[in-house]
Formats: sequence, structure tokens, C-alpha cells
Amino acid sequence: MSTRKRSGHIGVLTSGGDTPGLNAAIRGIGKTASCMGSMQVIGFKDGFRGLMENRSVRLDNQMLSGILTLGGTILGTSRDKPHKMPMGGKSVDMTDVIVENYHKNHLDVLVCLGGGGTIKNAYRLSQSGLNILTLPKTIDNDIVGTDVTFGFDTALGIAVDAIDRLHSTASSHHRIIIVEIMGHRVGWLALGAGLAGGADAILLPEIPYTIDKLAESILERVSRGKRFSIVAVAEGAINREGANKIRAVEKKLEEAEGEKRIELKKQIKELDNEYRGSTIKMAEELEKITGLETRVTILGHLQRGGTPSAADRLLATRLGTSAIDYIRNEQFGNMIAVHGEQTMAVPLQDVAGKINYVPYDHPWIITARNLETSFGD
Ligand code: F6P
Repeated sequence: MSTRKRSGHIGVLTSGGDTPGLNAAIRGIGKTASCMGSMQVIGFKDGFRGLMENRSVRLDNQMLSGILTLGGTILGTSRDKPHKMPMGGKSVDMTDVIVENYHKNHLDVLVCLGGGGTIKNAYRLSQSGLNILTLPKTIDNDIVGTDVTFGFDTALGIAVDAIDRLHSTASSHHRIIIVEIMGHRVGWLALGAGLAGGADAILLPEIPYTIDKLAESILERVSRGKRFSIVAVAEGAINREGANKIRAVEKKLEEAEGEKRIELKKQIKELDNEYRGSTIKMAEELEKITGLETRVTILGHLQRGGTPSAADRLLATRLGTSAIDYIRNEQFGNMIAVHGEQTMAVPLQDVAGKINYVPYDHPWIITARNLETSFGD
């Protein structure tokens, strides 16, 4: 990094679901800016809502001290979108107010720490003329253009620890234990945790399952004398029937326009609600078919809580500190991505609205198949 000093006002906000490592990233931005001497960092509270309401805090050395190891975000977060802000029971486009507050605070750049939804919102704001950078955070690891997102490693560790613990009780009681792991659209967490925790079956949103195939794989284990099974299920896992129905509507959506599009999107949402996140129903079916006692553990927000892992602290600190380089070089309108040991600016337009799904031929999938782990397909 060069030592050229540059004055400037940096705005920072955290938006979307919280993620271990957010505070490490905030600290990285703030401390590096402070070393530059004439840069000031202002944190906005509770995501885009705080910027809209002009609620901010000066991120000086005192604020940044002792936060590296803290989970959550000292700034607070929300899922509010600038163009669809809930206001008095209505959804209102508050983009103009946000643009106004950006200028009122004399910001030279707004750094948004967030996942897929945040990136879409940040991209919209950059189209409204603001200087924007984003850092990729999410436990889901579903952002395209970056090797990895911060938060993923911590959540993975928590899920693996849970599977380890569930193994001993599943074994003692000769049960099937189904562990639901976060990931509504993508299965990186369930796949990684399932593989590292030695799950016998792994169900992902990307690989639709049938209950019969899943039951078959478990009964096959029983025939080999195995008296318990662990099934790692992503929260968005879906059976073949649901996936086929959604795919059919998505096909229509590709050619639809106007009102028809809105109607089809609504249909997809309804099908999503009906078929995804149905782990308990799936467990009941599995118990019925196999005749084996089955229990469900839903890890839920446990996976987002607590202190970040060392790997996430390193990653978030690296991204936060490198943000200052991109600011000094005025490389706005980008997400700062991780590519091996390097960071890289990826245009927001190349990332916004895209999802990093687990590819069918990903080495983790191949590894799991080599171990005869069932995907229920
Ligand atoms: O995007 C992160 C995530 O934890 C997903 O894995 C999960 O589907 C979602 O957020 C839960 O959102 P909320 O915290 O709003 O319930």
C-alpha cells in the first residue's frame, strides 16, 4: 500500500443477515483509514435504514477497539432496501433521501458490507450516482465473483461441531438424526458440514431428492449393520416434485412480460414456501418408510452467532484493510473479491442478482459420492 495521504469521508454500513467477521471488517476499514491520517469513517446504523434516517456514529479508534473477536455487528443491521423501505405499513422508494444523506454527510464513498441482497441494493445506489464499494459477507457463500465470503468458515465450524455431537446421540439411540443447516438457495454449508462431519446423506437445494432414494440409502446402511444415520439437510433442500413444478414456472417466466411476470414470480414464491424448508415433514415421511426412529435438529441462527473463526477474522480484516486501497484509487462501483491470496475489484453489475450455486461436478460433491454419501437422487 502506498503512503500517500488523502482526505475523505468514508461511510460504512452492514446490511442483510449478520455474519461473524463483520466487526473485523469494520475494524479493518476504520483502523487503516485512521493510519491514513485525514480519512474519517462514519458508520450508519441498521443498514440502509440508518442511512435513510441519518443515524450514524463516528468510527474512531475508541469505537473500533476490542471488536475484532465480537460476533454480530456493532452497527446493527436490517434487510431494508432503499427502493422498498417499509414506512407506516407501506413500501416506499427512499432512494432520494439516501442520496441526499450521502451528500449531507459529505461522503466520498459508501462501503456496504453484505450479501446478495445488499449487493443488488448497492448496485442500484451506484446507478443513482453514489460511489459504492461492497465487501462479500454471508454464511451462505453464495456470492459469485469471489472465492469465498466471510462468515462461511465460522458457520461451517458450528455446523460440523453440531454434527459431531449428534453422531454420539444418534449412535446411542440407533436413530436417524436429521440436521437442518442454513442455506435457502444454495447448499455450500450443508455440503461442507455434511462432508466434514461424515453425514451419511446430504440434501441440497441444487440436487432435488426423492424420499424413496433417501430411505433406500439408509436401509442399505442398516443392511450393512449400521444402526444409525445422520442426514445433513440444507434449509432450502427440495424434493423432485417441487423442483419440477418450480422449473416449469421458471420456464414460463423466461418468456413472460409485464403483469404476467409478477404473477409467475408470485407462483414461484408460493411453491418455494410449500416445498422448501419442509425438513420436519420429510423426517416424518422418512420415519414411516424406514420404520426407524427419526429426530430433527434445526441449527438455525445458532450458525450466525458468536465469535468469528480465525479464518473469518483474517479474511474480513484483509478485505476491510484493502478497501482503503480501492478507495484511494477511486475504484468505485465494485465488490472487493477474494482471488487466492489477492483481492480484486469485480464490477457490481457482474455480481448483482447472480447466485453462486454448488456445481453438480464440484470436487466436494465428487468426494461425497466417492464415499457413497447419498444425495437422495
Ligand atoms: O443469508 C444468510 C441466512 O442466514 C440464510 O442462510 C438464511 O436462509 C437467512 O439468512 C435467514 O434470514 P433471517 O435472519 O432474516 O431469518
